[in-house]
Amino acid sequence: MIPLENYKTTFLNYLSENIKTKEPQNLYEPISYILSLGGKRLRPILTLMSCELFNTPHQKALNAALAVELFHNFSLIHDDIMDNAPLRRGKETVHEKWDINTGILSGDAMLILAYQLFENYEANTFQQLAKLFSKTAIEVCEGQQYDVDFEERDSVSTEEYLHMINFKTAVLVGASMQMGAIIAGASKQCQNAIYEFGRNLGIAFQIQDDYLDVFGDPESFGKQVGGDIISNKKTYLYLTAKMEASATDSIELEQLYSLQPKNSADKIEAVTQIFINSGAQEKTKLKIKHFTEVAIQLLNNLQISESGKKQLSHFANQLIYRIT
Ligand code: IPE
Ligand code: IPE
Ligand code: MG
Ligand code: MG
Ligand code: MG
Repeated sequence: MIPLENYKTTFLNYLSENIKTKEPQNLYEPISYILSLGGKRLRPILTLMSCELFNTPHQKALNAALAVELFHNFSLIHDDIMDNAPLRRGKETVHEKWDINTGILSGDAMLILAYQLFENYEANTFQQLAKLFSKTAIEVCEGQQYDVDFEERDSVSTEEYLHMINFKTAVLVGASMQMGAIIAGASKQCQNAIYEFGRNLGIAFQIQDDYLDVFGDPESFGKQVGGDIISNKKTYLYLTAKMEASATDSIELEQLYSLQPKNSADKIEAVTQIFINSGAQEKTKLKIKHFTEVAIQLLNNLQISESGKKQLSHFANQLIYRIT
C-alpha cells in the first residue's frame, strides 16, 4: 500500500515539471501563480489513489490527475470573480492581483489545457475520460449558476441546496475517482461505486467548506472568513438556522441577509451568533458526519482490498476533520 503522502509528492513533482510560464506572461503567470499557492490537492490524490486501488500503477493516472487539478483551479479563479473574493489560500486572488479579464482568460486556458492532457491516453480511454469530464464540467457550471441564483432568492429548500452542492462540488470529486478507475480498466460497476463514494464525500466536503467559511480560524483558513455571509449564500448553516431559530431570530436572520452593508463585520457577527444559538452549527456538523458515513458505507459495494477500503475511509475522516 502506497502512503497517502507519496501520492501528493508524486503529483507535485509532475505538476512542476509540466506547468511552466511562457509568453504571453499575462496569460501563463496567473496559471503558475494559482497552482503554486498550494491547496490540499484532494482531487488529484483521489485520482491516483483510485487507479492504484484497482491494481494499476498510479503513474498512469498522472495526466488525468493534473487535468482534474487544472480544472479545479480554473473553477476557483472564476469562482473568486463571481464571489468577489479577495483571498485564496492565504494570498491575493488572481483577479485582485491582476484584473478580472486576466482571471477570465487564464481560467479559460486552464480548462483547455486540462482537456489537452487526456490526449495522452489511447483512444478508448481518452473517449471515456473526455466524456466523463464534459458531463462533470457542465454540471459544475449548473451548480455554480444555482449558487449565484440562490443569493438573490428568499427561500431555498434543503433539497435545492443539496442539488446545488452536488453539482458545484461533489460530482468533480466523484469524477476524479472514476477517472482513476477508468485508467485502471475497472468494470462499469466498480467505476460507479467509486464515483458514488467520491460524490458523497464531496457533499460532506462542501458542507464542511460552508462550515469553515464561518467557523474557520482566520489565521489558517486562507479565505475571507464570513465571505458566504457577506454574499448572502444560502448555505446549510443558513437554511438550518432559518428553520431552527426562534421566530425573532429567524426574522432577524432574514433581514440581515437582505442587507449589503459597507462594513460587514457587524453583519457577520450577528449572523454567526444566530447560527450558534439556533443549533445550526451543531446540526451542520452532524450533516457532515452523515454524508461521510454514507460514503464510507458505500465502500462495501467496492471490489477492492480491505486495506484499500481502510485507506479511503481514513482519507475521508481526515478530510472532514480538516481545518482549511
Ligand atoms: C475549494 O476547494 C472549493 C470547493 C469546492 C469547496 P478546496 O478546498 O479543495 O481548495 P484547495 O484546492 O484545497 O485550495
Ligand atoms: C466553490 O464553492 C465551488 C466551485 C469552485 C465550483 P465555494 O465558492 O464555496 O468555494 P470557496 O469557498 O470559494 O473555495
Ligand atoms: Mg467561492
Ligand atoms: Mg462560490
Ligand atoms: Mg466556500
